[in-house]
Amino acid sequence: VGDPAARLLFVGGGPGFDEDRLGEPFVGRAGQLLDRMILAMGLSRPEVYIANVVKCRPPQNRTPNPRETISCLSYLGSQIDVIAPEVIVTLGNTPTRTLLDTLAPISRLRGSWQSFRDIPLLPTFHPAYLLRNSGDKGLVWQDLQQVMARLGLQAPKL
Ligand code: URA
Repeated sequence: VGDPAARLLFVGGGPGFDEDRLGEPFVGRAGQLLDRMILAMGLSRPEVYIANVVKCRPPQNRTPNPRETISCLSYLGSQIDVIAPEVIVTLGNTPTRTLLDTLAPISRLRGSWQSFRDIPLLPTFHPAYLLRNSGDKGLVWQDLQQVMARLGLQAPKL
């Protein structure tokens, strides 16, 4: 969902219960936190693009398995080709591992610039993780500030 010409693309893992019901990514509690993160960057949800690796909710909301992520990867790759964002932010393990083709954990990769098809990619923690570990919000804000610097964005004045 979002602007197909967005400069910034967020990628999550897969739809949860609310997202599956409504057919839109990041609309539950984690999505509301993502919206606040986007606003803190001086952007709004319609100005960015938000996608998931897998497009349907895995049973019992489990993490998508490699067969599932691989079978959805060409679709996500096409989305990325069409949007051609200037920066990709991956949220949590699933999109980070899928797009970087690694098993390295998000705890090791977050905050360090990577790339996908020559597009700068910054992994950060998933907003659902932040809902359970609010002490790590500062780390994610550091990551988002790196993205803002790369896009030439300034935080809105409060
Ligand atoms: N978590 C995700 O990774 N994606 C969503 O759309 C919602 C929750």
